[in-house]
Amino acid sequence: MKLKSAGIIGIGSYLPEKIMTNKDLEQIVDTNDEWIRTRTGIEKRRIATTQEATSDLSLEASKKALESANIQAEDLDLVIVATITPDMSFPSTACIVQDKLGAKNAGAFDLTAACSGFIYGISIAKQFVEAGVYKNILVVGAETMTKILDWKDRNTCVLFGDGAGAVVISTVEEDEGIKNVTLGSDGSGGSVLNKPAGGSRMPVTHEALENRMNYLKMDGSEVFKFAVRKMAAETKKVLEEANVDIEDIDMIIPHQANIRIIEGAAKRLKVGLDKMHINLNEYGNMSAASIPVALDEAYRKGKIKKKDKIVLVGFGAGLTWGASYIKWSI
Ligand code: ACO
Repeated sequence: MKLKSAGIIGIGSYLPEKIMTNKDLEQIVDTNDEWIRTRTGIEKRRIATTQEATSDLSLEASKKALESANIQAEDLDLVIVATITPDMSFPSTACIVQDKLGAKNAGAFDLTAACSGFIYGISIAKQFVEAGVYKNILVVGAETMTKILDWKDRNTCVLFGDGAGAVVISTVEEDEGIKNVTLGSDGSGGSVLNKPAGGSRMPVTHEALENRMNYLKMDGSEVFKFAVRKMAAETKKVLEEANVDIEDIDMIIPHQANIRIIEGAAKRLKVGLDKMHINLNEYGNMSAASIPVALDEAYRKGKIKKKDKIVLVGFGAGLTWGASYIKWSI
């Protein structure tokens, strides 16, 4: 059986209106604009209101992706939402989006791979489309990270922001589309980045709340070392599998956690920062939303054109990582 080629036929993103600058953070924790900018590159981030949940951000990004793909919600066969900040444990955020969107012919599920979630999501969509099982799949990366941050912990609360990005994946011309995807994980590193309470291991009890265990915890320097190494290695790996030279790549969309991580990876790959689309100064680390939001921005700014060769590469809690080589199809 001849496989079809799966590719992105529509893309959209949504960011909450409220902006929190580094100066604003100075009022909340013992930090300063200079420290945050020089150590991370982040200048501001978007913050969801108390009324806005991850499904709300997902919905807006999804509507734009459907419009860009020029298809209706009824045409969707599957909705995948990659997130570590679902509206609630269950039902899935994907089911909430499926309902609000009116995707009445679609299956729906959430996917947990933290900042690598969007790449994991497109890898699943690629298989279904190429095998001819489904035609149109919506993949969303969405987070309201600010809802799980400990606003008393300056080590973490300055780093993250909220947002959502979505793509529709369908059949495209044979020489275009999502050509290769690599995925990886190392669960032994789970404790360097996690949210301990709220699951079956540590339900939300008074004690858990008193110990602030319902917030994101991170060993920043461990994640940093792992991230620089993995971003470069995974980019090389996916390009090797695709038999493409890094010199032929038009744009790399890296996960947006820290400018120093991106610089470190660029150095290892021997590419200039002009080949990397960077927007973490504006939005901080939006976990699973970072890559699709950056991809949408690069596309809308005309930095990515049809048939361009691009790489998506990310890492995150799990630990997880992944990369994708794509020949842009819109
Ligand atoms: N403002 C001022 N000072 C601070 C702040 C802050 N916001 N945060 C930490 N500091 C202090 C520390 O307390 C420390 O002080 P000390 O030396 O007196 O103890 C000092 O600054 C240096 O801290 P380091 O941790 O050494 O700073 P570093 O240069 O390593 O940067 C950072 C920390 C930004 C967290 C970095 O390690 C990093 O970016 N790590 C990767 C994080 C990441 O990518 N996480 C997301 C993963 S994706 C996902 O799945 C969600």
